[in-house]
Amino acid sequence: MDEQITMTSPQMLKEVIEGLEKDQKELPSKYFYDQRGSRLFEEITQLDEYYPTRTEISIMRNNMPDIIRTLGNDIVLAELGSGSSKKTRLLLDHLPCISSYVPIEISEQYLTNVVQKLNQEYPDLQIDPVCTDYTTPFQLPAISKPYSNIVFFYPGSTIGNFHPPQAKAFLSNLSTLLDSGDGMLVGIDLKKDISKLEAAYNDSQGVTASFNKNILQHINQKLNANFNLDHFRHKAFYNNDEGRIEMHLVSTRNQTVIIEGQEFHFGRNESIHTENSYKYSIAEFNNLVNEWFSMEKVWTDANDYFSIQYLQKK
Ligand code: AVI
Repeated sequence: MDEQITMTSPQMLKEVIEGLEKDQKELPSKYFYDQRGSRLFEEITQLDEYYPTRTEISIMRNNMPDIIRTLGNDIVLAELGSGSSKKTRLLLDHLPCISSYVPIEISEQYLTNVVQKLNQEYPDLQIDPVCTDYTTPFQLPAISKPYSNIVFFYPGSTIGNFHPPQAKAFLSNLSTLLDSGDGMLVGIDLKKDISKLEAAYNDSQGVTASFNKNILQHINQKLNANFNLDHFRHKAFYNNDEGRIEMHLVSTRNQTVIIEGQEFHFGRNESIHTENSYKYSIAEFNNLVNEWFSMEKVWTDANDYFSIQYLQKK
């Protein structure tokens, strides 16, 4: 993903300062994804320890006829985020007829690349891109071809990176764009053995550590800051009470960092909380969505590591 975040620097500065002024310092995880961060995330998805991507793809492959039957013909497939992944192509390769593919993406440059590539690979596919931050209210474009239903596609368990109240607000927003009969195909990482979860965020090659630290590098570049990446260490653990993996960057010494002329002090062992990745049981996820959606179908793998669900708008 090139330049996934095109947010203006003043907005980024405001959010970074607000986060670092809290008692428990924090940074918004969306700032992982500059060009290098997006590349590192791609690397994470290939790691032995990071089971979600591989498992989600295998669930899709193993259940493709049922997934396709559930989505139906002549749908509008509206993908939240990315749009260039293996998972999109898997669906596009198997959906017999689709009225439009609507990639929804914050980075204009990235969106343009996706549309160009898909136009070449699928010359008959109608593509109606939307350049927007899908976490805030947005509109879908007018679709020229007749269609049966709109289906949002939100793979990767990305919804797990929202706090549950934010996830609910997000689902509530999406539901305003849908009529009854429309739906959402969503990937959810499931609760499981803590050791399996923690290994996925503490890989032996240190790619996740580099991904985590890259947020500081991104801030250095964009906000004229002087974080020394060697003075922070990666920490990721499962918080059982909250049902989430937390990623932190722990200061290895007392230090002061300057961001756009403003000083921030970090005590030895003080951490910056950089990401939450919530893990749900099927029942918990059902509770999260059921104000707006009914869970029509659930597909999982043999180990119940991951699930794909088809949610129908109520
Ligand atoms: C994008 N998101 C679903 C990933 C996750 O697992 O929460 C981001 C990630 N963070 C560390 N590794 C991967």
